[in-house]
Amino acid sequence: MRYLTILPLLLIPACALVTPSTSEREHYFITEVKPVLQQHCLACHNGTLPPPALNLTSKAAAFKRSPSGRDYILPGDPCCSLLISAVQRGGTHPKMMPRKEMSLTEDQIGMLREWIEDGAYWPEGEKGTLRAVKGIETR
Ligand code: HEC
Repeated sequence: MRYLTILPLLLIPACALVTPSTSEREHYFITEVKPVLQQHCLACHNGTLPPPALNLTSKAAAFKRSPSGRDYILPGDPCCSLLISAVQRGGTHPKMMPRKEMSLTEDQIGMLREWIEDGAYWPEGEKGTLRAVKGIETR
């Protein structure tokens, strides 16, 4: 019985420090992740590539596995996420994503890593619906 009263006291401060709230995660997705994916990936990964290619239009579609059985997005583990390996491929690799002339910056790759490390929060509904955007439009 005693530890039942102590446990919450130990857990609450730890969670508050380590785990961002849902609204913080949603904000991160909408302001950081979504614009980059929409600008750099959705022109192709929008469901029109022949299945089972990666489809980034919604959480349900994006969290499917690759034909080789790997996770594109493995929450908590950027190293095992095919999405991260793909955008990190250098130079002339034929499967580099996206192609060289539109590859992501180190900052953008770091941001995607951090997002996946942090659980890859992806909201449902309109907020989590991605479509291609071009140029400076960011939402
Ligand atoms: C110009 C079109 C185009 C753009 C832009 C593009 N991709 Fe791709 N991508 C493809 C095609 C085509 C494939 C191969 C489809 C398949 O897997 O059969 C592919 C494959 C992939 C794969 C699987 C790679 C593998 O090793 O199997 C990942 C992951 C991926 N893309 C992520 C991304 C991400 C993330 C972005 C944005 C940063 C992006 N792609 C932008 C066309 C594109």
